[in-house]
Amino acid sequence: MRNVAVFGATGSIGGSTLDVIARHPQRFRASVLAAHRASGALAALCERFAPDLAIIADPALEADLRARLIRAGLATRVASGPAALAEAAASPLCDTVVAAIVGAAGLESTLAAARAGKRLLLANKEAIVMAGPLLLAALRDGGGELLPVDSEHNALFQALPPAAATRRAALAASGVRKLILTASGGPFRGRSRADLARITPEQAVAHPNWRMGRKISVDSATLMNKGLEVIEAHFLFDAAPEAIDVVVHPQSIVHSLVEYADGSVLAQLGNPDMRTALAYGLAWPERVEAGVPALDLVALARLDFQPPDLDTFRCLALAYAALRQGGTAPAILNAANEIAVAAFLDGQLPFLAIAEVIEACLEQIPAEPVTDLAQLIQTDLTARAAAQRMMRRLHC
Ligand SMILES: NC(=O)c1ccc[n+]([C@@H]2O[C@H](COP(=O)([O-])OP(=O)(O)OC[C@H]3O[C@@H](n4cnc5c(N)ncnc54)[C@H](OP(=O)(O)O)[C@@H]3O)[C@@H](O)[C@H]2O)c1
Repeated sequence: MRNVAVFGATGSIGGSTLDVIARHPQRFRASVLAAHRASGALAALCERFAPDLAIIADPALEADLRARLIRAGLATRVASGPAALAEAAASPLCDTVVAAIVGAAGLESTLAAARAGKRLLLANKEAIVMAGPLLLAALRDGGGELLPVDSEHNALFQALPPAAATRRAALAASGVRKLILTASGGPFRGRSRADLARITPEQAVAHPNWRMGRKISVDSATLMNKGLEVIEAHFLFDAAPEAIDVVVHPQSIVHSLVEYADGSVLAQLGNPDMRTALAYGLAWPERVEAGVPALDLVALARLDFQPPDLDTFRCLALAYAALRQGGTAPAILNAANEIAVAAFLDGQLPFLAIAEVIEACLEQIPAEPVTDLAQLIQTDLTARAAAQRMMRRLHC
């Protein structure tokens, strides 16, 4: 029986994870559930899954959550605050941690799970973008295993030889020439910069193929999501920036591909449903039913591929630039993006200005080699403050 901690249980990935867990009560148990402020939704999940521990990250809501669980007659213990997340990630309450908190807020619990040698199902791409070298060191020291559940990286993990997928062998030594990430292109694929000037948050979060949280939906619309994934692929598979390509594939059926030296290209295909990657990560190396309908190739009939438009969607180019710069540059990119996307979702920043804010932050803050967590947290705060200043100067 796997005891699974689901961090971000009330979100889109959290919901998909719990759906897979519920399908296999003999194999998986949700032992820890955590959310930020949605205490009502978290209490409802506790009634359904009866975890040992429920964590609400905002301490102001701990009493509310406790009262709800008492009213429901549950024995689930309650904790609150970011430290409780890291503590639970490292505790014997779980052997598996699903890192599905959105943004930098997920970093410390993700690192704690890695250090404690857990099986880490990583959805929280911002954590590895910010702190790739620290996360890899924590995994090495803790002896844990990282199963990528971002659909593209899960596809690469499946299409790579096992030694390369788990970084035991360099990609070139395994005959790998390129990692090719697919991108749906988001809701604004094919649009020009002029078309994007007056985009509203509701238009930006209306993704054509995937139902996801609001932040990642905006990231998909700007192509920053793909940029973050390029950086994630670099750290996960030890791939040079030149060995990672992006191709736009509007149907979101081919989730990513690996090109080999002999000309073979191996891809992973499936319907766009995160339960495939999550079931793979939970059951690996076995495979279990995930509730995902079979892929009907004949009904699909065609698969299209196009180059990304880096002039209109500048965030992807900025992410490659931050990756090439290295050190703390990806953390600066990520923090500036989180601030700019939140302002856009709040109606405070135009869509096209998201890239302007990020570019200005990358220009203004010098990147340094990554040393430790304290340095990265300080860099994150510095970049957030710079992004706020930039927004006031540019548009707000
Ligand atoms: N959705 C997808 O299909 C998908 C695919 C690949 C990767 N990902 C990645 O997975 C992560 C989650 O995405 P999502 O779409 O599931 O997001 P989401 O639907 O917005 O859910 C976010 C979850 O994180 C929790 N949370 C937010 N801030 C927190 C904090 N400060 N401390 C603790 N918990 C916090 C939220 O709790 P409340 O409900 O209380 O706010 C919620 O449970 C992101 O990093 C995203 O890039 C998502």
